[in-house]
Amino acid sequence: PKDKSFTGMNLYFFQGFWCPSIVLKAVISCQKHFQAFDSDILIATLPKCGTTWLKALTFATLYRSQFARENNPLLTYNPHSLVRFIDYDFYLNDTCPDLENCTLYQPRLFSIHLPYASLPTSIKDSNCKIVYLCRNPMDTLISFWSFFSRLRGEGFEPVSLDEAFEMFCQGINEFGPFFDHVLGYWRASQEKSSKILFLQYEDLKEDINSHLKKLAMFLGVPFTEEEEKQGVVEEIAKNCSFENMKDLEVNKKGAQTFGYPQETFSGKTKTFVIPREAFFRKAKTGDWSNYLTPSMVDRLEKLIQEKLDNSGLTFKLFS
Ligand code: A3P
Repeated sequence: PKDKSFTGMNLYFFQGFWCPSIVLKAVISCQKHFQAFDSDILIATLPKCGTTWLKALTFATLYRSQFARENNPLLTYNPHSLVRFIDYDFYLNDTCPDLENCTLYQPRLFSIHLPYASLPTSIKDSNCKIVYLCRNPMDTLISFWSFFSRLRGEGFEPVSLDEAFEMFCQGINEFGPFFDHVLGYWRASQEKSSKILFLQYEDLKEDINSHLKKLAMFLGVPFTEEEEKQGVVEEIAKNCSFENMKDLEVNKKGAQTFGYPQETFSGKTKTFVIPREAFFRKAKTGDWSNYLTPSMVDRLEKLIQEKLDNSGLTFKLFS
């Protein structure tokens, strides 16, 4: 089946999730061809859950010994240029790109929006590490809706919050259903000898320093005592903070292109172009309370309760 998301994009229901039709061919190709290395690091998220932030944090932490402080690439590049999506940035139809040395530094660091169940098998069969970041569904929905309402152009006609809310509750959004995505990674992260670090946006907002240490440890590059004394953790947190990143020239101007021009199932060739400033809005936990009506909140709270029942996972709705 096919549907139109509240973002205006066409979606296909594929392998149990809603895949934007513009990237479906690339997704299939990625699943078929991507060869993971044991040393790879993969950032997995649903859109609008803090992907840009996690890309910056992971890049800055993982590669900190490979560039001089004054030449931090994050000062001159948008995080999406530095950490590409394997599920749509590299695969053009059924081609198999050479990704051996395609990242600036080693080990390779990529990003993905695919749900856990649809990850390329080579990722599951390898020892590569996955950092997953989720966010509470209310802020995710508002971020999603605001993001696409700001985009203009063909295929991006905004819809009302009522419509967006209804679709989101039914699970119809890019790479959703939301709860399936989160729970897929959550359950996998709970398995014995899991290679997934499961993080929540709200926790990072609350205490970034301790989460950066956790992240560094997980990535296999723990901060040394010397680094901690020198304030390296605080420096990374500050460099990657919303306040700092949104004011960088590179993030205020220009647009980010995702994917090579891809032939979609409608036969048209398209890329996915987004103004960089659109990735930075408010970055607040609980902003949903400025938008959702009491009955919407009630319905979403019930949905959270029903979906997370006995999973051991909880969401933080307020800061
Ligand atoms: P809001 O729309 O609530 O402001 P993604 O990167 O997955 O598209 O997620 C975008 C959300 O992350 C937006 O949320 C955006 O403002 C927020 N964000 C972007 N950069 C951030 C940063 N450095 N720190 C915290 N949040 C950030």
